[in-house]
Amino acid sequence: MKIVVIGATGTIGKGIVNVLQPHHEIIPVGHTGGDFRVDLGSKDSITGLFQDIGTVDAIVSAAGLARFGTLAELSEEDFLLGLHHKLMGQVHLVQIGVDHIADLGSITLTSGVLSREPIPGSAAISMANAGLEGFVRAAALESPRGIRINAVSPIWVSETLESMGKDGSDGIPSDRTALAYKASVEGTLNGEVLDVRDYASSGS
Ligand SMILES: NC(=O)c1ccc[n+]([C@@H]2O[C@H](COP(=O)([O-])OP(=O)(O)OC[C@H]3O[C@@H](n4cnc5c(N)ncnc54)[C@H](OP(=O)(O)O)[C@@H]3O)[C@@H](O)[C@H]2O)c1
Repeated sequence: MKIVVIGATGTIGKGIVNVLQPHHEIIPVGHTGGDFRVDLGSKDSITGLFQDIGTVDAIVSAAGLARFGTLAELSEEDFLLGLHHKLMGQVHLVQIGVDHIADLGSITLTSGVLSREPIPGSAAISMANAGLEGFVRAAALESPRGIRINAVSPIWVSETLESMGKDGSDGIPSDRTALAYKASVEGTLNGEVLDVRDYASSGS
């Protein structure tokens, strides 16, 4: 399959590329670097990306900004970052990308465990993640030509915890997190939110 990976240069994106590359043709997309770049916050940028790369079999998104902060700290701008970027950025990716996917292809977005297992300080992120998961379940009902739409919900990634000076063993490594994305791309699921914990132990 020809698969475009948005956020390919990121912590999760690198794991996705590692896991899918042996089996598929991967088009890695970054924001600040790489041959192909996109800004999820701009519909024009998403449209331009697909003009450049043409038709693909699958779109995978491992990008989307949202901000941590207590309710007392979070400004309207902080909430809007998650809504405009992580939520609507990936919604626009579906709306624009669907016209550039082959029949029976797939789109896999990224939400996060905080939608269903919030922690203090996650209100803005939990809101964006929950909105995205609702969107995926509904959008899958309308997708044309057998195109499947799912979201992957990662828990903390080990490399992310380590970069914060925390114990990586409390999370799931990027390469194991990527197995949920592989299941979404290669399987038959549609309109589902895949919890990475259900896939992290499966063979790659
Ligand atoms: N890491 C975790 O523990 C974890 C847990 C749960 C959920 N998630 C979610 O998973 C997603 C990816 O997380 P991550 O930790 O892999 O992030 P990351 O390491 O910060 O990587 C982010 C990726 O997105 C790209 N990017 C940045 N700004 C962008 C923009 N405006 N438009 C398009 N792409 C952009 C970056 O490209 P450049 O490198 O070119 O800047 C990079 O490839 C996020 O939505 C995050 O909320 C992460």
